[in-house]
Amino acid sequence: MRVLVIGGGQNSEHEVSLASAAAVADALRSGGHEVRTATISPEGVWDAAPAGTRAQSLAAAMPALAWADVVFPAVHGVLGEDGALAALCALAGVPVVGSGLRAGAVGMDKHATKLVAEAAGIATAPGFVISSSAIGDVEFEAPVVVKPVSAGSSHGVALVSRPEDLLDALRAAARFDDRILIEEVVRGREIDVAVIREAGGVRWAAPPLEIHARGLFDTAMKYDGSARFTVPAALTTAETATLTRAAVAMFDALGCAGVARMDFFLTERGPVLNEVNTMPGLTAASQVPRMFAAAGIEYPELLDRLVRAAVP
Ligand code: DAL
Ligand code: MG
Repeated sequence: MRVLVIGGGQNSEHEVSLASAAAVADALRSGGHEVRTATISPEGVWDAAPAGTRAQSLAAAMPALAWADVVFPAVHGVLGEDGALAALCALAGVPVVGSGLRAGAVGMDKHATKLVAEAAGIATAPGFVISSSAIGDVEFEAPVVVKPVSAGSSHGVALVSRPEDLLDALRAAARFDDRILIEEVVRGREIDVAVIREAGGVRWAAPPLEIHARGLFDTAMKYDGSARFTVPAALTTAETATLTRAAVAMFDALGCAGVARMDFFLTERGPVLNEVNTMPGLTAASQVPRMFAAAGIEYPELLDRLVRAAVP
């Protein structure tokens, strides 16, 4: 198939999205697909190689979309994963890999995700949202976790242990979003579950993965190579079943497509959903490809299945 892989993007995960897109493009080529790439600069300029057309406007990027049988938007974060690129493809009439506008938008919004999860009977950390214009007014007992409502790769996320650190944490989060989530700290094992929806609509979860982090699994640890993963995670059959059920329920409640990664804390009282990633990191070393490899599906095969699932 002719696949246009889009990477980069106008947000703090730009570099991560470049890495995901490059890996996806290589693997799809190795699987026999005809691949072109388009890169969105941090300023929003599209560069559609190999034609090499630097498109200052979206209209000028349309020929690259029109060429494709399917678009693979490997763009994490806002104006990508949040449904923006899925919406663009829908408007252009081109099939797109992964979740559509609704699931992308809700999954990118950590507060909306919480509401959907709770309605589906899935626990999340108790918390509330404040406007960035109100950060001078809040007072509460530490410890808490402070995060931008919409961001990724833990940018702007802080574990606040001392009340005197709160204001700086709120200011840091406000650099990424004008809504800030303040949550109770959840203590538990960090377990990720990836769910795929294949051609024909069957969806299933890969073996869960455990993250062994020193304290908060923060931006630095996500990308400095120091995090250790165990896959499959050492879980009882009952724990795996409970986590998998929650992940699939969340996938269905949001109406996800393609692959999504649901990140949980496994606590003494069961799984607590931390967040949903509708366009999770997709280098060969990222969690999702490693989970599917544990299910016997190697990286190029995973990407091939995602592309096929997107085309009606
Ligand atoms: N937001 C990063 C890319 C992830 O979820 O893997
Ligand atoms: Mg995320």
